[in-house]
Amino acid sequence: MADEQQHQHHEHHEHHGHSHQHGEQGAVASPGMHPSFMRVIQQKQRIKQKLSAIKHKIGVYSAKGGVGKTTVAINLAYTLARNGLKVGLLDADIDCPNVTMFLGMEDAKMEPVLPLKPLEKDGIKIASTAMLVDEAKRPIIWRGPIVTKMLGDFFENTDWGELDYLIVDLSPGTSDGPLTIIQVLDLDGFVIVTNPQRIAGINSIRSGLMAKRMNVPVLGVVENMSSGKPSEKTMEVVKALDTELFGVVPMNKEFADLSDKGKVHVVENSEISRAFDEIAKKITS
Ligand SMILES: Nc1ncnc2c1ncn2[C@@H]1O[C@H](COP(=O)(O)OP(=O)(O)OP(=O)(O)O)[C@@H](O)[C@H]1O
Ligand SMILES: [Mg+2]
Repeated sequence: MADEQQHQHHEHHEHHGHSHQHGEQGAVASPGMHPSFMRVIQQKQRIKQKLSAIKHKIGVYSAKGGVGKTTVAINLAYTLARNGLKVGLLDADIDCPNVTMFLGMEDAKMEPVLPLKPLEKDGIKIASTAMLVDEAKRPIIWRGPIVTKMLGDFFENTDWGELDYLIVDLSPGTSDGPLTIIQVLDLDGFVIVTNPQRIAGINSIRSGLMAKRMNVPVLGVVENMSSGKPSEKTMEVVKALDTELFGVVPMNKEFADLSDKGKVHVVENSEISRAFDEIAKKITS
C-alpha cells in the first residue's frame, strides 16, 4: 500500500512537472516540493500566527537610500500613537538599523530571552536587530541567505501583542532585505518615500513596481525633503504606480540635528507635525 501510494505520488509529480506550490495548503502535503520551500512556508505560517493580533502592517520603503525612510517611519509611528492608536515600530534594516539611533536609544538592548519583547518608548513598542547586537562596533556582514534566515528568525521570535499598526522601516534596494520582508511579513502595503529629485523619482517607480510584482499594494507616496508643493517628478511616480499622494514633508534643516539628539520631529516642530497628521489621516481612512 505504501509502495502504491508512493508510486501514485511519483506519477502525479511527473505528470505536473516541477510545479512548486507556494500556496499555504502546500505546507500540508506536496510531494514534489523541495524541503527548503516547505521550511519557508512553515516559517511564514508561524510568523503569521505570531503577528495575528496586529491589525495593520505597513512598510515604509524606497529602493533609493537616504530619502528619509527611517525618518518617515518614526514620525508616522509617533503620529499614529499620538492619535491614541497602539503602535509598533519594527526596524527591519539589518545592515544599518538606524531607528534606535534616531530615537536616542542605541544602548537599549532587548533581553536575550525568547520570545523577544520589543522595548517601549513614548508608548510605542520598538524592535530592532540593533537591540540584540553591538552592531555599530561589529557590523553585520552577511550574504543574502543568512540575511533572510536572520530576519525570518527575528520576526518569528518577537512578541508584539495587540497592535493597531506595525510600521516597518526597510533597508533600501530591491534585493535580499526588502525581498525577505515582502515574502514573510504579509504586509497590508507600502508607503513609498521619494524626494523631488529626478533620480529619487526613477528609483521610487522601481521600488513601487517591485512591490506590485510581489503582490504588495502601494498604498501611497510621501514626498520628503519637499519645497512644500509636490514636484512634477513625484506626481509622475504617483501616476506610474497608480496610487495616491499621501502628503509632503518639508525640507527642514533642523531634521538631522533633532535626530542626532534623539528627538522626534513631530513632537518638536508643529509644521512637521501638521504634515504627518495629514499623511496619517490618509493611511487610517
Ligand atoms: N525632510 C527632511 N529635511 C531635512 N533632512 C532630512 C529630512 N528627512 C530626512 N532628513 C535627513 O536625511 C538623512 C537621511 O534620512 P533617513 O536616514 O531617514 O533616510 P533613509 O531613507 O532611511 O536612509 P537609508 O536608505 O540609509 O536607510 C538623515 O540625516 C535625516 O536626518
Ligand atoms: Mg533608513
